[in-house]
Amino acid sequence: MRIRVLTLFPELIMETVQTSILGRALEAGLLDVRAVNIRDYAFNKHHKVDDYPYGGGAGMLMQAEPVYLAYEAASKDLNKNTRVIYTTPQGKTFDQKMAAEFAREEDLVILCGHYEGIDERLLEEIVTDHVSIGDYVLTGGELPALIMIDAIARLIPGVLHNAESADTETFENNLLEYPQYSRPEVWHDKKVPDVLLSGHHENVEKWRHEQSVRRTLAARPDLFERYLSEK
Ligand code: ADE
Repeated sequence: MRIRVLTLFPELIMETVQTSILGRALEAGLLDVRAVNIRDYAFNKHHKVDDYPYGGGAGMLMQAEPVYLAYEAASKDLNKNTRVIYTTPQGKTFDQKMAAEFAREEDLVILCGHYEGIDERLLEEIVTDHVSIGDYVLTGGELPALIMIDAIARLIPGVLHNAESADTETFENNLLEYPQYSRPEVWHDKKVPDVLLSGHHENVEKWRHEQSVRRTLAARPDLFERYLSEK
């Protein structure tokens, strides 16, 4: 999958995706991420890309043209009709289902929002998906872009090794994960639940399912409702 990120902080994007599992996926050629610096497409010698908003008000706005030029440069080797995701708290909330949908694309462009906003005409012209990572406000779209890239990339076949894919069920059946334990059997006077040491596979599965249900009910009543209605 090819992902192009339009940003003011390309180093932040590239440093992060070169780390750990995503870094391994880049090296294996399963993923090709490039961050394009919008500032490189400023048309003045100070590399300024923002200006005052018409109608007044606090703050500056990212101008349409530099973002558009960065988009054109970034997407020229991508498929036509590639989806362009704009990171914004005004968007649809990102979830596992959306990650799975984006993971089926061959190419993606992500436009990182800017704390002061971007000229609406540019958004109308190129953006296909307005996406938020949750109901809180961040200073920019780089962290949301990285979160989305991480969630999308791990769904690309081959990116996770078998041992790492063990938790793919989370959210697929609308239940949270059950608790897990490793050696030693006793730590700080806390003992691993007997059933896990019993070797009785059926009882283990039953216990894990019960724990998942309890946790979901306690921490995520909204998800629990979905579990009940969709199971
Ligand atoms: N930019 C600022 N806050 C954001 C959020 N919650 N999601 C996506 N982009 C953002």
